[in-house]
Amino acid sequence: MDLAVIILAAGMGSRMKSDMPKVLHHVAGAPMLIHAMRTAQNAFAKKIVVVTGYGAEAVKKSAASYDDTALFAHQATQEGTAHAVQQAASDLQDFDGDVIVLYGDTPFVQPETLQAMLDKKRDGHGVVVLGFHAADPARYGRLITTAGGQLEAIIEYKDATDAQRDIDFCNSGVICADARLLFSILDDVQNDNASSEYYLTDIVGLARARGLTCAAIACDETETMGINSRTDLATAEVAFQTKARRDAMENGATLIAAETVWLAYDTIIGRDVIIEPNVVFGPDVTIENNATIRAFSHLEGCHVSKDAIVGPYARLRPGAELANGAKVGNFVEIKAAQIGEGAKVNHLSYIGDADIGSQANIGAGTITCNYDGVFKHKTEIGARAFIGSNTMLVAPVRVGADAMTGSGSIITKDVPDEALGLGRAKQENRIGLALRMMNKLRAAKAALKKG
Ligand code: UD1
Ligand code: MG
Repeated sequence: MDLAVIILAAGMGSRMKSDMPKVLHHVAGAPMLIHAMRTAQNAFAKKIVVVTGYGAEAVKKSAASYDDTALFAHQATQEGTAHAVQQAASDLQDFDGDVIVLYGDTPFVQPETLQAMLDKKRDGHGVVVLGFHAADPARYGRLITTAGGQLEAIIEYKDATDAQRDIDFCNSGVICADARLLFSILDDVQNDNASSEYYLTDIVGLARARGLTCAAIACDETETMGINSRTDLATAEVAFQTKARRDAMENGATLIAAETVWLAYDTIIGRDVIIEPNVVFGPDVTIENNATIRAFSHLEGCHVSKDAIVGPYARLRPGAELANGAKVGNFVEIKAAQIGEGAKVNHLSYIGDADIGSQANIGAGTITCNYDGVFKHKTEIGARAFIGSNTMLVAPVRVGADAMTGSGSIITKDVPDEALGLGRAKQENRIGLALRMMNKLRAAKAALKKG
């Protein structure tokens, strides 16, 4: 059966004290909303509907940039979680399948957990709810289950008796139901409760009143961690990093000082990769087997192939692609550039919008002058080329295979294969002039002191 996922993202998140909608705050290198969307995608959702409210335009923009097939519904006034889900009804009126509701501020629910809910529903239940055993149940809704494991009701904290508040099995907010059943039951939800809100949680009681059974499954509490404040955001980040570092190590990478390495939600790290202390990974980075990322490097949107060495103090920006055995050394920035197999850019360089051939050697201080103030231009360096230190490559420009440039050259014209390109003033030596100039200056200083 097809799956649609509705993501509730209408809340302002006043406790964030932010001008930005809560769900757009980043955790693990992406807005929390994108984590929920990714979970939906990885659970093979056919449709994703994001329910917007506060900051709808910004939320839509962020969601659409991640998935341009995402649908949107708007909740103009926040009248509760059931009311929010109802807003998605028109987007899903022709949809015949399962629906799962996620919260945009609960980023770590795993696709496997959604699959487990769908599997549970196949046992014939009307509604399946995702619960967790809370270390501190606080103000979560409580799941009331029978001895046989069926779910009888969800009682909101505000409406719960003391005995019900003693239950530690809590509602994560994630629910699963058949689409047609869900929207039909939602029409029956009332707001006669302590908050005068339309509670999504009421659908359990209403489904049972229609003679259906409901069930709850449990997941780890870390998956259902909701984010309401900056402190929660930091706590969530730590939880994510702890798990991501452990996963990387379990997959065969060495993290010398694991607690100083920052990973993103989609970082891919191969076997026998060594990551030295204080390395930061932004989104969309792949490190292949046997590569080494040395201390204090910053990487995002890049691909590092086998046996490559990066850093210390290197910056790989989006579009940096290092082939096998390439070396990028200290204080080097690479952007939108391919560094060929075994090529070296070892010191103090900027390589942007460039294609560097295999085994080429880029001397210290080389800059690709890629930007003329309006357009970006490309630099091509052939295989085995040797670029002298402090060469300015004024793009568009091409240095051929096995060619060289003289140190300090400003290269504005293509250099043919096997040629030496020299673009610098010819040196002249004036014999004795240094000493004569110095003597003159010293005499001037002595005259000043006297007078
Ligand atoms: C809800 C659940 C509670 C559960 C808890 C888990 C209900 C009635 N209660 O309570 O059982 O233990 O989540 O965190 O569902 N939202 C909207 N529009 C609205 C109201 C809410 O989009 O009108 C969104 C919020 O932005 C948030 C999510 O829905 O992302 C949950 O709403 P929230 O007000 O935090 O619900 P809780 O009271 O925490
Ligand atoms: Mg909440």
